[in-house]
Amino acid sequence: MTELIVVSRPEDLPRQAAGWLALEVSRAIAERGSCTLSLAGGRTPEPVYRELAARSNIDWKRVEVFFGDERAVPPDHADSNYRMVHLTLLSRVPIPSSNVHRMQAERADRDTAAREYERSLPRPLDVLVLGMGPDGHTASLFPGSAALEERQRLVVPALGAKAPAERLTITPPVIEAARKVAVIAAGEDKALMVARAIEGPFAPRVVPVQLAQRGCWFLDRAAAARLTTRTVAT
Ligand code: 6PG
Repeated sequence: MTELIVVSRPEDLPRQAAGWLALEVSRAIAERGSCTLSLAGGRTPEPVYRELAARSNIDWKRVEVFFGDERAVPPDHADSNYRMVHLTLLSRVPIPSSNVHRMQAERADRDTAAREYERSLPRPLDVLVLGMGPDGHTASLFPGSAALEERQRLVVPALGAKAPAERLTITPPVIEAARKVAVIAAGEDKALMVARAIEGPFAPRVVPVQLAQRGCWFLDRAAAARLTTRTVAT
């Protein structure tokens, strides 16, 4: 069952999502002594990560950070998901650098980079943060992608319809196994796909973000605008 959090004011989205993340990270630490946290790229999570960095109730020494996907660019490139997460979160919290596991998607041999990253990826992740594109992609799992058929490997090279095209991505088994999943989506350009993902028939090869259907979805009013009233708690 999908849990929906629809905020009325845009500034509430980072607060709600960061509050949930702080709670779930702290819960994992309380229950298992540490938290493995995988973060999404793109633009939507930026204010969420800045808000999370401002929360003082997280023992960052006990958090291991991973990435759901990465573009084939250097870590200081403007398109790097690592760079965005570093600027908005990692550079603002006392997390040991050895706790941060960067996807080296810029390496010439991306398949080897994927296989090496997979060896560092915990099974299952404690907390997984995902975004969603207007086409329903999540991480770098794009509609119709061969990576959507992957059931053995946890990380694979992928080609995206969103530039930069060459990437590394987690695969469906990683999303399906994660203990807690958050999907964060904002903007009217995602409204149709949000409604399709949450209310439409289950078809993750067409709508990959449906792999996270059991997660907690954080939406602004614009992204939730096409949901029927039966779905959105009044
Ligand atoms: C990426 C992201 C991707 C992102 C969506 C939404 O590397 O592009 O991981 O899955 O979450 O494309 O991106 P925006 O938040 O920028 O709309």
